[in-house]
Amino acid sequence: MPNLLKVLTVFGTRPEAIKMAPVVQALAANPDDFESVVCVTAQHRELLDQVLQLFNITPDIDLDLMKPNQDLTQITTAVLLGMRAVLQDVQPDIVLVHGDTTTTMATTLACYYQQIPVGHVEAGLRTFDNYYPFPEEVNRVVTDSLATLYFAPTERSKQNLLKIAPHPEGIYLTGNTVIDALFYTLEHAQCNSPVTLPAGQKLILVTAHRRENFGEPMVEICKALKTIVEQHSDVEIVYPAHPNPNVRKAVDEHLRNVDRIHILEPLEYEPFCKLMEQATLILTDSGGIQEEAPSLKKPVLVLRDETERPEAVDMGTVKLVGPHFDKIVSETRRLLTDEAAYKAMAQAVNPYGDGKASARIMDALRAFQQQRLSTKAEVAAKA
Ligand code: UD1
Ligand code: UDP
Repeated sequence: MPNLLKVLTVFGTRPEAIKMAPVVQALAANPDDFESVVCVTAQHRELLDQVLQLFNITPDIDLDLMKPNQDLTQITTAVLLGMRAVLQDVQPDIVLVHGDTTTTMATTLACYYQQIPVGHVEAGLRTFDNYYPFPEEVNRVVTDSLATLYFAPTERSKQNLLKIAPHPEGIYLTGNTVIDALFYTLEHAQCNSPVTLPAGQKLILVTAHRRENFGEPMVEICKALKTIVEQHSDVEIVYPAHPNPNVRKAVDEHLRNVDRIHILEPLEYEPFCKLMEQATLILTDSGGIQEEAPSLKKPVLVLRDETERPEAVDMGTVKLVGPHFDKIVSETRRLLTDEAAYKAMAQAVNPYGDGKASARIMDALRAFQQQRLSTKAEVAAKA
């Protein structure tokens, strides 16, 4: 089928899978335009499989790379080697990667070595600090410097790309596919929230997993959570803990068996969305949750000192408190006790998308294919 664009979609972790699922579904729904091949590196195993199941995605290729407590060099080299073989075998016309993980960066590098174009979904996010977040900022810089197509989620990410992209004509403003995934999941949800609280209790949802928060910052976050439940008898904290051993160690040492702090295993995406809906307030260092929460009108305190997602901060629904005990405790107290401050943050604005990002990505891929076919025709005419 020479007119079909052969698209290889590659992802490896939970957030990539959630945000690429709408793209994989859209590719499959357009078989007259695309031949879709899906490869997972399985940089994550259990967290990835949960998402694949929910969105009914069966990968064509599974590199099964995850090792316990893997380091960055291990993942990078494993993805580079694994993807070399996959690219040689599949011979895609374009490879789609997502965001800022090591799977994303190393897959892009593997494509560069074989001169295969890359389309970067969620391109152009920046903090402009190579160590915050680590190593995600550099993963984005490398990926954007080698990509051919860029799917920018916001106007600000588009502007970042216009300053650095080697192919500015390849930049498309699409919105973030996470909103497509969130709307799809809430629309099809078949479960209730996994947590039932005593009447009158407020739920604070917590997640924390970033590498730069390992060690002392994680301990400070845990101590702040303990203080919050001590100071507010009407609060229950629910923390689905990431399986990274560095996270588990801090959580086990500081939060197990604390009254009104509930440590859960990582939740599947559907019940997690229900839990976000149920929450009064969210404390997180996650990127994706900062994007989802404004759609659900939930205030977010971000357990980081910077963010590559400043749009919701500017709109007032997200606030940076860092991994700092005093700020976490005082800002939480303010939102729990000051109704006006809470209402001001719980606004119904969503700067990250309208649920149609994957449709716009399909349009951009069709335009890319048109361009390829006309270039081929010109070359053939000259020969
Ligand atoms: C990775 C990404 C990070 C992203 C996060 C989302 C990199 C460098 N980091 O960080 O950008 O925000 O995923 O969650 O790409 N583990 C399991 N089961 C799983 C997943 C992880 O046991 O399903 C444990 C393993 O011991 C693994 C460790 O967690 O070695 C770390 O996983 P890794 O992907 O290296 O880092 P994350 O902290 O998950
Ligand atoms: N999430 C989930 N179950 C959980 C915690 C998070 O499904 O127990 C979802 C969350 O809604 C978001 C994504 O996972 O869509 C975020 O993943 P993570 O925080 O691991 O990564 P980040 O976004 O920071 O890269």
